[in-house]
Amino acid sequence: MDFQFDESVDRRNTGSMKWDVAKGELPMWVADMDFRTAPGIIEKITERATQGVFGYTVVTDEWYQAYQTWWKKRHDFEIRKEWLVFCTGVVPAISSIVRKVTTVGENVVVLTPVYNIFFNSILNNGRNVLESRLKYDGSRYRIDLDDLEEKLSDPQTTLFILCNPHNPVGKIWERETLERIGDLCSKHHVLVLSDEIHCDITEPGWEYTPFASVSENCRTNSITCVAPTKAFNLAGLQTAAVIVPDDHLRHKVSRGLNTDEVAEPNVFAAIAPIAAFTCGGEWLDSLRNYLWENRAFAEEYIKKEIKGISPVSARATYLLWLDCRNMSGSSTQFCHFIRSHSGLYLSDGNEYRNGEGFLRMNLACPRQQVEDGLKRLKESVAAYESLAEKQF
Ligand SMILES: Cc1ncc(COP(=O)(O)O)c(C=O)c1O
Repeated sequence: MDFQFDESVDRRNTGSMKWDVAKGELPMWVADMDFRTAPGIIEKITERATQGVFGYTVVTDEWYQAYQTWWKKRHDFEIRKEWLVFCTGVVPAISSIVRKVTTVGENVVVLTPVYNIFFNSILNNGRNVLESRLKYDGSRYRIDLDDLEEKLSDPQTTLFILCNPHNPVGKIWERETLERIGDLCSKHHVLVLSDEIHCDITEPGWEYTPFASVSENCRTNSITCVAPTKAFNLAGLQTAAVIVPDDHLRHKVSRGLNTDEVAEPNVFAAIAPIAAFTCGGEWLDSLRNYLWENRAFAEEYIKKEIKGISPVSARATYLLWLDCRNMSGSSTQFCHFIRSHSGLYLSDGNEYRNGEGFLRMNLACPRQQVEDGLKRLKESVAAYESLAEKQF
């Protein structure tokens, strides 16, 4: 089937967080896509809306089966039904888990640069962020395992939040790396919370490894958050699942989600994952092809046309991480300049910590929009550098 990823959908004046910007601006920051979701999902939601009764809702057997079958088929991981708990989102789950499994003043370790909302979930609950900074050698990111162990071995450290695959750098963590993380966390009695929301957006031919599938150790000492929302563009429906294989831990997490009132679905949150995982496969594969064509197009354009910026290659997510360390000034200044000069709205690498000198660009939009964004970037770079010559 041919899906229309080139078609642009006008999202202005729809209460879209991304598109609530000034006229002429081009938002390529927040991680949601500008594509309509898979036809099968729209159909199921429309059918449900047409019935017209929107009472209190629970998840049905089909919801569990949809997650189980998808993970078995797509990710070669067998999830038992009882391991799965509904949650209204990955972020609500993370915040609730932080509150439930750690105490005020304890450390939560993260690998920076990383999805910035992790910091809110930690800091807003009175816990400390302990950063283990990823190393970038100009072509790939890697974990400094000695540094990670030092942070994990602090007796005040009780939780490690992993982003697998990793936003913003687009890295799929290798099985050996995950195994090593699992060993280090167990050795130092640190629980692992693996956020796997980006796992279905991988380069065609590339597969991610679920953290809990790596070893018995990783399975029992982890909580995993998954959702169809990134891959199928359903974030506004607020739907996710938490996988907790260990019975004792699951009871605890489940109580936390319940007391935080994030454990019950709205009507659409209950059915959208079923529709996505049962009829969205073909659409998703086609989307992944389109996204990697967008990535190839953007990488080539930047290499050819934009001096001073180089794209970081990635096997996951629809986010392009741009190395702008050769530009003058800070990436915060540069990011503001690009927006005010050309209307192109990107994310500043500093938001993710350890991201000074980098910018993040969302490529999940029609090719024409990617082209428009890149042209604006090119013009901004030229204008910024001639201004910088005078000012810096
Ligand atoms: C790594 C990561 N986790 C979680 C989320 C958001 O999850 P949710 O919308 O389910 O709260 C995002 C959104 O960009 C993300 O990148």
